[in-house]
Amino acid sequence: MKIRFSPPFIDDDIRREVLETLDSGWITSGPRVLALEKLVAEKIGIGHAACCNSATSGLLLMLHWYGIGPGDEVIIPAYTYAATALVVMHAGATPVMVDVKEDFNMDVTEVRKKITSKTKAIIPVDIAGWPCDYESIDQLVNEPEVKSKFQATSENQKKLSRILILSDAAHSIGATYKQKPVGQWGDFVVFSFHAVKNVTTAEGGAICINLPQPAFDHAEVYRTLKLWSLNGQTKDALSKTNGAGWKYDIVYPGFKMNMPDICAAIGLVQLRKYGSHILPERQRVFNTYTKQFAAFAWAQLPPQDTADKTSSCHLYALRINGITEAQRDKMIERITATGVSVNVHFQPLPMLTLFRDRGYRIAEYPAAYNSYSREISLPIYPELDAEKINYIVNAVAQAYRAIV
Ligand SMILES: Cc1ncc(COP(=O)(O)O)c(C=O)c1O
Repeated sequence: MKIRFSPPFIDDDIRREVLETLDSGWITSGPRVLALEKLVAEKIGIGHAACCNSATSGLLLMLHWYGIGPGDEVIIPAYTYAATALVVMHAGATPVMVDVKEDFNMDVTEVRKKITSKTKAIIPVDIAGWPCDYESIDQLVNEPEVKSKFQATSENQKKLSRILILSDAAHSIGATYKQKPVGQWGDFVVFSFHAVKNVTTAEGGAICINLPQPAFDHAEVYRTLKLWSLNGQTKDALSKTNGAGWKYDIVYPGFKMNMPDICAAIGLVQLRKYGSHILPERQRVFNTYTKQFAAFAWAQLPPQDTADKTSSCHLYALRINGITEAQRDKMIERITATGVSVNVHFQPLPMLTLFRDRGYRIAEYPAAYNSYSREISLPIYPELDAEKINYIVNAVAQAYRAIV
């Protein structure tokens, strides 16, 4: 049997919406992007969300919005996808890495140790769709002693007068923390709509705006983000076409980060079906794995939902007790040979050449290495029925018996 790792959810409604977009005569940023932004905001329960062409772009845009640049530090987990660190480097600042806890997420006690007068932002990452400890992070950045260290160097920094919480929620749309969607935590929360994510637009992202009010006017921040993500141009192509006149102005050295309508068309249908179909189906697969792997003493299950945290079930991040990295790799070879495609999330950043060459050392992040070395991410998506799940579980169990 061939089982793919993470094919996108595409049905006839999505095909129809994409075809209608093609036939509408408008395929780049336009009414469908606006509709998707409205729908994201409605589903998350916030006033404003701004779409862009990837989570990477969204994170970079927000670092830029906060005036983060050379000489500044941004605290990130060592265990994440490279984009979390790359955006900090693109902003000209320094990524300061912290180790993680057993649940894969940033250890807030480690974050506290790394805060200096140069710290401008913290980027918590909800690995695999499991929410970070947002309340602790929130309390930390608001502690008088931590706030007194903060040195504001931009208008927005002066207004907020503390470290910015910029959540990398690339994995966690649909997850909840303290009974609220994760999109409501963090000053800004950035979702990814990349092809393998729970909700996709092929490539894309959305930025949820949660800054303290009334100090910040969310509608105004939204308008700024839209302007800055379209070259700082006062009129987009659609409004020019629709009779607003040809003449535009460039008022800011913006980026080209806008989402096209053809992508938003996919996301609109996906998001409409997310709560009623896609997410429950992911939960079904997740819970079936959990029931089956619970029978094996060698299997360490991923974090399970609690009263305070529910996962978006983006990944099924299984860990194998008592194995080495080399044994894990051999297990993956065996599993792959049965036709089941699996992955590893993630290689901790200090293990990658770019970061190693810049002096980051994996020995300083033992928990990240420990989780990575024993981790195998299993396929998780609606099309996996009981037969396929059994096949995957058997493939993993047989690989374990053969290797260990
Ligand atoms: C944790 C994390 N952050 C950021 C990103 C970047 O998302 P995008 O591909 O939408 O830029 C990813 C993508 O895989 C991710 O896994």
